[in-house]
Amino acid sequence: MANLTNEKTVRIQPKVDGDGNATPGLTRRALLRYGVMGAALAATGGLGALLQGCTLQGQGRAAGVVRALQETFQPDVELLLRARPDRLQLRPAGPPTRVWRYEAELLQGPSDALEALPDTYLGPILRLRRGQRVRVRFQNEIPEETIVHWHGLHVPAVMDGHPRFAFGPGGEFVYEFEVLDRAGTYWFHPHPHRRTGPQVYMGLAGLLLVSDPQEEALGLPSGEFDVPLVLQDRTLDAGNQLVYGHGPGMGGMMGGGGMMGNMQGFLGEEIWVNGRPDFELRVARHPYRLRVLNGSNSRIYKLAWGDGRPLTVIGTDGGLLPAPVSRPYVVLGPGERVELWADFRDDPVGTERELVSLPFEGGMGMMGGGMMGGGPTTLPNGAFFRVLRVVVEREAPPGPMPELPLSLSAPERPSPGEAVNAGAPRRFALGMTPMLGWTINGRLFEMEGVAPDEVVRLGTTELWEFDNAGGPGGGMMGGRMGQMGSMMAMPHPMHVHGLQFAVVGRELVDPAWGAAWESVRQGFVDEGLKDTVLVMPGTRARLALRFEDFEGLFLYHCHNLEHEDMGMMRNYLVRA
Ligand code: C2O
Ligand code: CU
Repeated sequence: MANLTNEKTVRIQPKVDGDGNATPGLTRRALLRYGVMGAALAATGGLGALLQGCTLQGQGRAAGVVRALQETFQPDVELLLRARPDRLQLRPAGPPTRVWRYEAELLQGPSDALEALPDTYLGPILRLRRGQRVRVRFQNEIPEETIVHWHGLHVPAVMDGHPRFAFGPGGEFVYEFEVLDRAGTYWFHPHPHRRTGPQVYMGLAGLLLVSDPQEEALGLPSGEFDVPLVLQDRTLDAGNQLVYGHGPGMGGMMGGGGMMGNMQGFLGEEIWVNGRPDFELRVARHPYRLRVLNGSNSRIYKLAWGDGRPLTVIGTDGGLLPAPVSRPYVVLGPGERVELWADFRDDPVGTERELVSLPFEGGMGMMGGGMMGGGPTTLPNGAFFRVLRVVVEREAPPGPMPELPLSLSAPERPSPGEAVNAGAPRRFALGMTPMLGWTINGRLFEMEGVAPDEVVRLGTTELWEFDNAGGPGGGMMGGRMGQMGSMMAMPHPMHVHGLQFAVVGRELVDPAWGAAWESVRQGFVDEGLKDTVLVMPGTRARLALRFEDFEGLFLYHCHNLEHEDMGMMRNYLVRA
């Protein structure tokens, strides 16, 4: 028990082959069956990585090559991606802030495939093209288990970053997939069970932008006029360290004491953009494409221009809309994206504009922060605040300017008419069960568990309904407390892995939540494709989903990351 150094390469047999089947030999399951310590030590002799996982998190699992690369896969783009601790000067004064961040290296492929962002904990922007074959060698250098999920991408189950593939420090997982998705704004982040919230909060998240020829033909603002805006809320302590949960600094974060007690989800006291507390957008008198990602753990934004002019929306989670739409405001739950057309041509140099979050009701649940265990926060969900300051600081460069196209790119949307269960949607009741916390149909996450009502057929379209109105199976105690149950509701941003769906209906079911619903209802953009749908308390959302190409185990869950970590997540199985 002497060697405590962190060994970088502890190799065991690949656990998963290209088709996602466990290979014979020392598989993950075998390791668990034989006892992690004994088997892993016997296999690797590498105590370092194992102990580091164990001592720091008490959940260490053997590291090594969790999935090896396949020689037969010929990548167009090959990346080395690492999750590792770092320090960043985020405040002008005081010590640097300890963060965890993704860092990448391009091993092969076009040089613009990777854009590193200086001065932020956010990961590099991966710029991929539809049809590209991508290999990512992902290495874990943080002191606990992790795995990467490509949020929004349609990839095989084994490439999707399911928590069952999470692995410890020193290990490597090789992703190999083809980009099948439309041009759009996707993102990647960790997905280990119970630790997604803290890992994202520490800085592990990055954008993945897909382009395709159809999008390029539209001549939308590009280059410096195509700006990603990642919205997150953070709290720093007096020593400039990130505060998570109820405890101070990393102590609270690592201790985990705060997380389970936080029924509300984590809310930071400051709004940061692109990983900076002081971010400002300095623009030219030119049209812009603003790609907004809500990368916050649990905060919901009701985005609007500070001067009251409407927002022009051109895209959502799954890419461009058929045509631009106008909204007085846009409501964005955690995980969701929206693309805006922002034209600063008519603003004289020196003009300042702001993007704000307008007040709304229902963000904290009816019982408020105290009852939901959120504790006091200086910036509750639903409060008014400024999101971003925009300064028009220069003239546009000479040359033609892009015009807002009248039509954009019509996605092929799954429709209710083609659903095999058109008359009887598959229902998922979102609720709270005493002693369990937030549940889906009364259940919590099980690593490989799938209930009979969570199995779908490959090649079919279905209607699903996320019901946040406290009916049977939902609310508190499975609805047995009636009105009380519905009063314990909260908004749940429901995310389905592996596909893009169509939101085909939203309705208020419980009139007790009428005012809350009124305060957000004009802010949803359902004309395009979505992978995350914000289901407000007292309401129901109906989706059409098509299960194509890939069999296997995929997740659906609440993207309030604290809810997810507490188990508001389930598997669904796609079967041929
Ligand atoms: Cu963005 Cu399952 O997550
Ligand atoms: Cu939730």
